[in-house]
Amino acid sequence: MKLLVINGPNLNMLGIREPAIYGAENYDTLCRIIYAFAEEHGIDVEIFQSNHEGDLVDEIQQAYGTADGIVINPAAYTHTSVALLDAVKAVGIPTVEVHISDVSRREDFRQISYIRQACLATISGHGLNGYIEAMELLIREAGR
Ligand code: DQA
Repeated sequence: MKLLVINGPNLNMLGIREPAIYGAENYDTLCRIIYAFAEEHGIDVEIFQSNHEGDLVDEIQQAYGTADGIVINPAAYTHTSVALLDAVKAVGIPTVEVHISDVSRREDFRQISYIRQACLATISGHGLNGYIEAMELLIREAGR
């Protein structure tokens, strides 16, 4: 099984950006947690981060025929991007949306998620562990 984890803009700044909201752990720690989980469960995982919407679309398209599941934190593009929604719909790969913070308790403009309607589930407010929960969900889903 191969999973693709995609992170949108500013997530490379974890540990530096607004630690009261996103925590003190940096992006390398997030990657290490994801790789360790994948190794433990005998699955392949690729992690991709970009600050550019089109690069995120390209990455989703390239997953077609190669990835069995996508974990995506589109970050700010969650609230603006029809292109990411369309890309996930286009490839038809089971996808889980993750947010480190609990977006439901934040500003009004964060209450809209375009990508949500193409996702199996949304995990929000569970910190970095949300990525692990999303991978567990995709593994369970693949075993059905
Ligand atoms: C985020 C929440 C978004 O609203 C924000 O723009 C981010 C990160 C999260 O992980 O909590 O950059 O997706």
